[in-house]
Amino acid sequence: MLFETVVSGGCRSYLIGCEETCAAALIDPELSQADRYLALAARDGLRIKYLVDTHTHADHFSATQQLAKQLNVPVVMHGSSPAPFVDLRLQSGELLVVGKLRLQAMHTPGHTRDSMCLTVEDRVFTGDTLLIGATGRTDLPSGDASALYDSLFNGVLQLDAATKVFPAHEYKGRAHTTIGQELAENPRLQQRDRGAFIEMMANLNLTMPTHITEALRTNMTGGKTVAQMLAEAAAIVPFMSLAELKGCIETHRCDFLVLDVRERDAFMEGHIQGAQHLPRGQLELRVNQELPDPTRRILVYCEFGRVSTLATATLRQMGFKGAVALDGGMKAWREAGYPVVAG
Ligand SMILES: [Fe+2]
Repeated sequence: MLFETVVSGGCRSYLIGCEETCAAALIDPELSQADRYLALAARDGLRIKYLVDTHTHADHFSATQQLAKQLNVPVVMHGSSPAPFVDLRLQSGELLVVGKLRLQAMHTPGHTRDSMCLTVEDRVFTGDTLLIGATGRTDLPSGDASALYDSLFNGVLQLDAATKVFPAHEYKGRAHTTIGQELAENPRLQQRDRGAFIEMMANLNLTMPTHITEALRTNMTGGKTVAQMLAEAAAIVPFMSLAELKGCIETHRCDFLVLDVRERDAFMEGHIQGAQHLPRGQLELRVNQELPDPTRRILVYCEFGRVSTLATATLRQMGFKGAVALDGGMKAWREAGYPVVAG
């Protein structure tokens, strides 16, 4: 078995490959590492056949959907996953065949309703059901402490004590542990009484993960993150620097239209000299009156440089092939001490 752990902050992803056939599965990939997984698979001569999420993640953005499109391979989750983009839904006991390897699913609800662990040879991928020295939390959507109690004590902890444990999160840099070690040392597993376990889980007082709303939205529906929307827009748009624009204005070389797409109040408070005002929210509605010449070069800016990137991409999609976004926004322009016109 070829085996690779990818660490991304506190998240862990695993690439498991069959040496004989070069088939591989990728477990819990994270969006920011999408290119790394492909590079690792290529380096090891592996072909990823399955993209597996052990559960609906609430704390990071899953890469399964994006990689599935790139690689044209199925996304695998447990049968109770709500995500519409899942191609293969496993039930407890079912196997994923990866070359000569057999990954067996075990439904382990509790952290989420759709949590599953996967066993292969000497190891188990526990997702957020069992962490090193901890368990997944049960206070996020579809979490259930009583179900986690069963999934642990009547499920994953029944595996052979020597089974290696590879969780989806690890914050202290430990590579893995074993079922036996966890039974002996994991503080949360010392409450063997169901009631006491549930009470302990209810009183952990954990802070909410950052990006929880966006992570659930994108991981449950297959929708895009805001960062993805911005990256896609930025990829089809050229940019102009603040200094270049300032130079053009100063030397009267400003042969293009400068378009301010912020709200009216912000424009009135201070804008770049000569700028035309057309709020992003009204761009599509007023484009035909305000921008009659589709061949015109248009430099778009906003407050921070993000909305202007989206607006520039929209303009280019509408045919304004001379649309350019300012690299930065009004905030950076002011901070640079460049001239601002009020009213
Ligand atoms: Fe999780």
